[in-house]
Amino acid sequence: MICKPDAVERGYVGEILSRFERKGLKIARAELRTLDSTTLAQHYEEHVGKGFYDELVAFMSRSPAFVAVIEGPEDTFAMVRTLMGSTNPAVAPPGTIRGDLGSEMTENLVHGSDSNESAEREIAIFFPE
Ligand code: CMP
Repeated sequence: MICKPDAVERGYVGEILSRFERKGLKIARAELRTLDSTTLAQHYEEHVGKGFYDELVAFMSRSPAFVAVIEGPEDTFAMVRTLMGSTNPAVAPPGTIRGDLGSEMTENLVHGSDSNESAEREIAIFFPE
């Protein structure tokens, strides 16, 4: 998962991580890191060329993000995404990270891998070792 630059700027990293910890999930790896456009093109390969892509890259690279590997039982990716709420914070239910803390589509605080395969691919991009 990634706490995006807006979450870091607003001081919500602790708040976000504590929600995963309270759920019983473990933070296996984590690092504060400024993401460059090459890394983001790999990470967001399915979005390259879409209308929102340039704005997304400008946002994601403007200040440090907090990239983390969250560990837990089978299909932890799904649990992480449930805690995050829908991509669009405007429709994310209260009680979720985006529902409680966000209001904008691009600056939606967090990213979570959408499958076990995506998690494996994305972890290899951010923590190749
Ligand atoms: P994320 O889950 O990181 O995946 C792609 C990101 O692009 C998404 O969260 C949003 O931050 C951003 N985004 C902006 N507009 C859209 C859109 N119309 N559909 C999906 N994602 C969008």
